[in-house]
Amino acid sequence: MVHNKEVESEPRVYAYTRTFSAALTHFTCIVFTAFIAVLSRPGTSLFSWHPFCMTLAFSFFMTEAILLFSPHGSPIKRFSHKTKGRVHWILQCLCVCCAALGLAAISYNKHLNGKAHFTSWHGFLGLLTVCVVGLQSLAALPLIYHSLAKGWSLAKLKRYHAASGLVTYLLGSTSLLLGLSSAWFAASVGGYTWYLSALCPALTALATMNQVTSAYMAKKRLQS
Ligand code: HEM
Repeated sequence: MVHNKEVESEPRVYAYTRTFSAALTHFTCIVFTAFIAVLSRPGTSLFSWHPFCMTLAFSFFMTEAILLFSPHGSPIKRFSHKTKGRVHWILQCLCVCCAALGLAAISYNKHLNGKAHFTSWHGFLGLLTVCVVGLQSLAALPLIYHSLAKGWSLAKLKRYHAASGLVTYLLGSTSLLLGLSSAWFAASVGGYTWYLSALCPALTALATMNQVTSAYMAKKRLQS
């Protein structure tokens, strides 16, 4: 009850700020994905598919899959939670498919060029990210088929899924940042553009952290 009063009396400027920051996150992830697509020109070489698919997977699909649960910036705000859950797993499936294609493209390209695999921090963390996102998706199956996790309450499963999903998202953002530090990207853009590009995964990661932790805190407040 006290909590509802607090929410009702919240200054409007907070609501506007939250809506603005969610809109900025949509804008950032779309512009960043489009920018990498223009720069890498997918289809012009085997390598070109790697930055394109990875950015599409982690900057676009995964960010949008999480943002659709945002109370302030969801494009499907008025739909039921069940529908949001469905759209979320469809976007996550697309994310995993793109990540697998991006990994296959860079690995095969390296194999064709006789280069060693997973030797850089980006390569190592990138491989870990793709494995973790695959595992995270498999571990989410009990949320759809609850009988797969007998003895676990749905609330507990959701809590673990959100926490591990956030870690996966942060791994994806770090891999993106390390990808931007690659010789290919550094040679493709000038200084200011590099910093602006690096700001994109950093901004979306901050917004996602804020959304997931706020949802958790709100639930905790309701329970107490
Ligand atoms: C979350 C997104 C990303 C993941 C998970 C990822 C994953 C990987 C992996 C696993 C490798 C090593 C493959 C091997 O050694 O066989 C690699 C290499 C590479 N990636 Fe990414 N990547 C991502 C995003 C990007 C982006 C955005 C760029 C460019 C802007 C990029 C540029 C490169 C380059 C140039 C290489 C070859 C050099 C190296 O091995 O470090 N990557 N990536």
